[in-house]
Amino acid sequence: MRKKQSDATRIIHTGADAGLIGKTVNPPVQRGSTVILPNAASLYDSGQVTYGRAGLQPHAALCAALADLEGAAGAELFPSGLAAMTGALLAVLKSGDEVLAVDCVYAPTRRFCDKVLSRFGISTRYFDPALGADEVLAKTSPETRLIILEAPGSLTFEMQDVPAIAAAARARGILTLIDNTWGAGLYYKPITHGVDISVQALTKYVGGHSDSFMGAACARDAALAQTLRDAVWQVGWSTSADDAYTMLRGLRTLPTRLARHSQNALAIADWLQVQPDVIQVLCPGLPDSHGHDIWKRDFTGQNGLLGFVLSPGPQAAVHALLDALELFGLGFSWGGYESLAINCDPQFDVRKFPPAYTGPMIRIHVGLEDVEDLKADLATALAAYAAAR
Ligand SMILES: Cc1ncc(COP(=O)(O)O)c(C=O)c1O
Repeated sequence: MRKKQSDATRIIHTGADAGLIGKTVNPPVQRGSTVILPNAASLYDSGQVTYGRAGLQPHAALCAALADLEGAAGAELFPSGLAAMTGALLAVLKSGDEVLAVDCVYAPTRRFCDKVLSRFGISTRYFDPALGADEVLAKTSPETRLIILEAPGSLTFEMQDVPAIAAAARARGILTLIDNTWGAGLYYKPITHGVDISVQALTKYVGGHSDSFMGAACARDAALAQTLRDAVWQVGWSTSADDAYTMLRGLRTLPTRLARHSQNALAIADWLQVQPDVIQVLCPGLPDSHGHDIWKRDFTGQNGLLGFVLSPGPQAAVHALLDALELFGLGFSWGGYESLAINCDPQFDVRKFPPAYTGPMIRIHVGLEDVEDLKADLATALAAYAAAR
């Protein structure tokens, strides 16, 4: 080694070995593609992280926390919630397999099954969310490899008897996968109810601030966890250290935020029930709502998402309602601190078993605002609906 290295060399190596200055509450945001190994033997040691795409400090901390929360053998991260759904499917399916999916599944997951899996010789059939476990299992064929569930349906709030379906599927060697974004790993723990893979869009409640994308897939046993890990590595999904850090930070306040979403949503649901133009409230945590019995048995909380069916009226009146909202933003997402609303009917066309509502349906996400202000906003919107009907 030369005694006096040139600026060009020193600028590459200087300051690189600072080490951790102090133990902070949160893990360091460790950014890195290249990982410098301690010695030659480590270079080809598959037990070590040898390349940053496998995830570094914040990723490891987030995966451990999510696996712990969901009671899982392992958790893997994906660049979005949709990528976690599609990635988990790619990890376990092969050509010739068939998927049975609940008809209320998140529409982009359905699009992936219909448009992408089909190109690889994997077919998908859809079942009515109202079917019981025996009826769902009666729909399987010898090719059925996996059942996709989503309870409650995140648009229309149908509940499925997940433990019964998971147990019956397991007895036939069929895997179950659930989109658990509604339950956020806190209010619902599908793996403890027998499901094999629990996926959630961390983009929603875990992130909680509507500013970053990420998804996670949690596996029930070690072999399945390894299958997911292999798929992530083989396909090349990678997530940024900043996003992993953001999600981990969000996770710390998840129970506190969800408790307030819950309190606000239940108050709004109660209030909606007595509004003249609201003929049905779709909110599993509400005692009169469809699916409440299963929700009460399996879930520990209601989040901020709910729907309501209006008395019949034209699309112009639905638009008048949405356009009159000031605090509720018009947007397709949910899980952030803000209130949002959409009309849902345009999304029912793709369904094999569309819901039979007698009027237009609105989905709202109840945010962390003062609930009386939110009621006032909705009252103005409902008055606009009544005026335009
Ligand atoms: C139920 C559900 N699953 C998955 C996703 C996908 O999440 P992402 O937007 O992070 O891809 C969403 C997003 O709206 C969702 O509502």
